Amino acid sequence: MTLGYRGRAAWSLLLLTLAAPTASPLKLAVDGQTVVDQLTKLATFTDDPNPAVTRILFTENDMKARSYIKQLMAEAGLKVREDTMGNIFGVLPGANPNAAAVGTGSHCDAIPLAGMYDGTVGVIGGIAALGALRKANFLPARPLEVVMFTSEEPTRFGLSCSGSRAMAGVLDAEYLDSRRDENGTSYLEAAAAAGYGAGSYEDMLKGARRTFSDLSYFVELHIEQGPLLEQQGQQIGVVTAIAAPAALRVSFSGDGGHAGAQLMAWRNDASLAAAELALFVERAALGTGSPDAVATTGFWDISPKAVNSVPREAVLEIDVRDIDGGRRDGVVAAITAEAASIAERRKVRHTVDLINRDPPATSSPFVLQAVRAAVSELGYSSREMVSRAYHDSLFMAQVAPTAMIFIPCRNGWSHRPDEFASPEDIARGVKVLAHTMAFLAGNARAEDRQEL
Ligand code: GLV
Ligand code: MN
Ligand code: MN
Repeated sequence: MTLGYRGRAAWSLLLLTLAAPTASPLKLAVDGQTVVDQLTKLATFTDDPNPAVTRILFTENDMKARSYIKQLMAEAGLKVREDTMGNIFGVLPGANPNAAAVGTGSHCDAIPLAGMYDGTVGVIGGIAALGALRKANFLPARPLEVVMFTSEEPTRFGLSCSGSRAMAGVLDAEYLDSRRDENGTSYLEAAAAAGYGAGSYEDMLKGARRTFSDLSYFVELHIEQGPLLEQQGQQIGVVTAIAAPAALRVSFSGDGGHAGAQLMAWRNDASLAAAELALFVERAALGTGSPDAVATTGFWDISPKAVNSVPREAVLEIDVRDIDGGRRDGVVAAITAEAASIAERRKVRHTVDLINRDPPATSSPFVLQAVRAAVSELGYSSREMVSRAYHDSLFMAQVAPTAMIFIPCRNGWSHRPDEFASPEDIARGVKVLAHTMAFLAGNARAEDRQEL
């Protein structure tokens, strides 16, 4: 995609790109074990017993996690603020308080039965990075901020990245209202119950909007969630692009009936229509011939869920991604067409609800230069890579020049309770993040650089 800032932004980017990042002599104290201890404490706020972590938007455990994150931000000497969507910010003021900030951050919500590192490393690691810069007496010219984004995971309302979508101004009020949780609660009601929101969707979305005039750069630290860094013995992943994600919900409904009395010839079994479609989803991704195209039917619900009842309803949620947005759209279109043809053949009714279809994001060359400079200054090994998972950075890239920093995770496992990243890898990621942000923000107290 083409990033959504123009004009003035293009000029300043051009000027900044002409000046290659120079190494700063920062010497930061970052203790990976302290970050892990904080991640371990955060992991106790979960709906499922550890080592699993399940933390769903605006539930009691999500609220406890939010309080803990605000406490860590305050302890790191950051100014805490929250917006109407429930995004939480910790700010290290700059010498020029009116300058557009340099941002980092990620999410703390966790899908059912996930691990304790996805997203959280970018939030607690971001707090550690800003805390270390502050302790080193670094005075940024621009403010530095770390954000805990609201609901990167699509668990409660079926919509991913709601906090960062709102910041980027790409979330529609009517659409957000149409996404209800399993109890029929609206987003606005859930936000209000958690002490966020505003009187209307319009005001809530407006309250979270960010632009290039208040956010100059964004860089997110995250575990890789894939095996490449570990397999190749590289310490840091420099992320050049994020794959394009899409999600759709397909519902089939038949007439149901008694599992004994309803003869096979008379049935229109909704669950068999869903089964056919799930197999097609796999074929559609494989049929592209590209390893970059992936499609998953990760949610499946049938009713009435009784062994002696022909399923009447079947709902599938299907996730489709690719680095190539056009090819991803081709897979989505094929799945949509196949759903219609299965419904016709099996004489069931059906609906297809396109939840999201987002473009891929390309990292900013300038922020990438800053990350590479930080990596080389710290003497770490690295490789360039794409992110096949999506992140809040997908949307921050529509606000400001953005890039991501990956660290290895064991066996590439993620979205599983045994997700793991070592304290050493976390410390390296935090240091690269801090150095990158320091470069992007500029040091207002140049003499401190000499002393450090
Ligand atoms: C984020 O969790 C993703 O599914 O990529
Ligand atoms: Mn995740
Ligand atoms: Mn994540």
